[in-house]
Amino acid sequence: MSDRTSQYERIAFEDLNYNSYLKVPELLQLQQLQSEPPHHDEMFFIIIHQSFELWFKQILHETDLMVRGFRKGSMARVLKVIERINAILSCLCDQIQLLHTLTPAEFAGFRERLGTGSGFQSIQFREIEFAYGIRESFFLQFFENDPAAHARLTARAEAPSVYDEFLQALHTAGYPVPDHLLTGQGAAARELDADLVKVLHALYKEPEDNYHWILVCEALLDLDMLVSKWRQVHILMVSRTIGGRKGTGGSTGKAFLEQRVHHRFFPELWEVRNSFFQPPDSH
Ligand code: HEM
Repeated sequence: MSDRTSQYERIAFEDLNYNSYLKVPELLQLQQLQSEPPHHDEMFFIIIHQSFELWFKQILHETDLMVRGFRKGSMARVLKVIERINAILSCLCDQIQLLHTLTPAEFAGFRERLGTGSGFQSIQFREIEFAYGIRESFFLQFFENDPAAHARLTARAEAPSVYDEFLQALHTAGYPVPDHLLTGQGAAARELDADLVKVLHALYKEPEDNYHWILVCEALLDLDMLVSKWRQVHILMVSRTIGGRKGTGGSTGKAFLEQRVHHRFFPELWEVRNSFFQPPDSH
């Protein structure tokens, strides 16, 4: 046996290797088709959804780090984290397009086997919405028979949102954020706040003093745009796959999804744009 061969054997038999570290054998067991006989395209459908769920997990993991960054007042850390979240979201928008290769006839070949399974029941998608301040109690009903999921969502609903954390950090840094926005009670659920728009206007107007905050605001806006873009590309994909038919979760499908496309995590970051321009009729 040459030296080179024995070296390879030594590496190959070490306890931790690629497969054991990443649990590849276990991972590859998780694609359990429901169609009988197995429909070729169901594997594709399962893998797409599973990979989305893994990325949702990473987004939540990064979001918790972002919150710690806000609490420490470390905007460099916050920016670093948002950069990664936005890179993931960007990929998720592209990833939806994979489903354009699933024709209506192919999907119809196994859709009835999904039962009432639907994105409505994605715990992590709802957790992301809750973490960023969109907290509609309507969606909790989908988790009534799953106490662990229900508890996770309730914990997110009771914690300050990312927007609350941002406003608290801004206040701690000396900006005059109105007191009633510092309660940690889900900033996005309330009416648009004109006083907060004024604070943001002043911040954007003096960039030399505020560049690090402006960068954070713009990165949060990018994140909001990417989630909205995901909602839009999901709707387009739904339209080309099932047209205007009802969803497996029981909603009206495309019509229901269109109602939610206008949700925004950080409404005043959008509204502050208006404050820099006169209405057309005032010229
Ligand atoms: C053929 C592919 C797909 C179709 C036809 C489809 C269709 C739908 C429909 C009709 C709804 C509305 C709820 C319902 O009544 O079921 C929905 C919701 C949802 N879907 Fe999909 N979907 C597909 C793929 C995906 C993928 C790949 C994901 C990634 C995780 C996903 C995530 C979601 C989420 C999170 C919701 C809830 C959205 C909200 O509440 O605003 N869907 N989907």
